[in-house]
Amino acid sequence: MKKIKNLLMTTLRNKETSMTNFRGAADKLALVLAQEAADYLETISSTITTPLNTQTTGVIIKKNLILVPILRSGLALVPAFLHFYPQAKIGVIGAKRDEETAIAHLYYKNLPPISADDQVIVLDPMLATGGSLLMTLKILIDLGIKEEQILFVGVICATEGYNLIKKEFPKINMIIAAQDSKLNDKKYIIPGLGDFGDRYFGTE
Ligand code: URA
Repeated sequence: MKKIKNLLMTTLRNKETSMTNFRGAADKLALVLAQEAADYLETISSTITTPLNTQTTGVIIKKNLILVPILRSGLALVPAFLHFYPQAKIGVIGAKRDEETAIAHLYYKNLPPISADDQVIVLDPMLATGGSLLMTLKILIDLGIKEEQILFVGVICATEGYNLIKKEFPKINMIIAAQDSKLNDKKYIIPGLGDFGDRYFGTE
């Protein structure tokens, strides 16, 4: 892991970190992850003319980009991705897990028109059991998006959730800052960072 990610993860994991500092570290980490996402986006070469009237070749993003944050925590990653990819459309999936069973329920879905050729970046900081992500991926695949056209971006995953997603959708691309080995009996990631949404939005 790049040292900058490790520094930011340490702030996020520390229970003494205030909401303001948690948000600051999460926003910075999101910028790092958004930069890494560029490696997964298809580009084509583009000839441009500089102010010195000289032609040179650069690159531009080839496909339509759609960001799909999973509510609520996924919203925290959106500004960093819009910073680098301002042309992206945004679709929203609302998934809440039952506190008793930890099973994800879809309560909101609002996606822009999606064609099979688009690239989709699914955003959710915490991949625990994988239930919400699995549900989101099934929705996207049913709409015709190819697995390899989907990139998932997260902050921490548990091995259990990561393995489930890789088993169901082996061709999906994933960028996750850290992987933890365990879930507790309430399906929180251990050591983890607690409830990302509560700490980011100040609702704990
Ligand atoms: N969601 C969180 O915010 N934290 C966890 O540990 C698991 C899911």
